[in-house]
Amino acid sequence: MSIRNVGVVGAGLMGSGIAQVSAQAGFPTVVREMSQPLLDKGLAAIFKFLQGGVEKGKVAPLDVDRVRANLRGTTALADFADCDLVIEAVPENLELKRALWAELDAVVKPGAIFASNTSSLSITQMSTFVKRPERFVGLHFFNPVPLMKLVEVVRTIRTEPDAVQQAQAWCLAIGKTAVSCGDTTGFIVNRLLVPYMIDAVRLFEQGAAGRDDIDNAMRLGCGYPMGPLFLTDYVGLDTTAAICDIMFDEFREPRFAAPPLLKRMVLAGLHGRKSGRGFYDWSTTPPR
Ligand code: 3HC
Repeated sequence: MSIRNVGVVGAGLMGSGIAQVSAQAGFPTVVREMSQPLLDKGLAAIFKFLQGGVEKGKVAPLDVDRVRANLRGTTALADFADCDLVIEAVPENLELKRALWAELDAVVKPGAIFASNTSSLSITQMSTFVKRPERFVGLHFFNPVPLMKLVEVVRTIRTEPDAVQQAQAWCLAIGKTAVSCGDTTGFIVNRLLVPYMIDAVRLFEQGAAGRDDIDNAMRLGCGYPMGPLFLTDYVGLDTTAAICDIMFDEFREPRFAAPPLLKRMVLAGLHGRKSGRGFYDWSTTPPR
């Protein structure tokens, strides 16, 4: 594998997790945010998570030192010039990504692999924003990134096999299992998961069962770590609704359409964990 230096654009929930696991695995990693306060927030979240891991006996203090040594924050894309792999984890706004990729294409050395962590936008479309579409892949991580073992490695019809193989090898090197798939909306996980989550919202909306009954049913009856309504809160109702819209637009199947209750909760600002309230009240631990 020729990937050594890694760049991560965005230090939000996903970007900070990706930067952490990369640095923790020994890759010199630079993470970029738009402003110093946002960067400080992302870096603080990484070290808070690591500290929690040390307290639980899951992270060795040496790992924290390794992250400190390998991770560098920046607000300048110019610092990505020497990266072998650049992963974009910025908000799901195509125009924002278009401008960002054009800028990265001009700055990052030829041959480097470009990857988007998008959950639902088209990797194929994004690959047209750069002059090296054959080096463009999707690397879709799961929340919480340091704990979830999977990465979906997405190829387009123009991605060359070497880029896919390099990306897969890097996933392995950071301790993840890579699954490979083509560029269809939702890839594998969201294509199966999101209809399940919104079916739970429909069941609740129709009054067929209460919140706790739905969540307990799937946790205790199927061994899922979280019930579907809790998981929707965890992922974010706004994120879930946005994925639904894109999947519905792609497939035109009613099962992908966001249920009215989900849309109303998003409009009301009840976005789940990130806003403090969704199907659960997140101001308490555990959420009520
Ligand atoms: N550092 C290191 N390890 C830690 C840690 C930390 N800061 N905090 C917790 N851990 C470890 C724990 O010690 C535990 O390890 P063990 O299994 O060996 O005992 C493990 O991580 C689980 O932690 P907890 O026991 O504290 O918490 P839970 O058992 O409640 O698990 C969870 C938390 C892993 C998030 C679990 O609930 C889960 O898997 N939930 C489902 C999440 C999911 O489905 N995510 C995908 C969402 S979809 C998505 O992201 C796609 C997007 O496009 C929408």
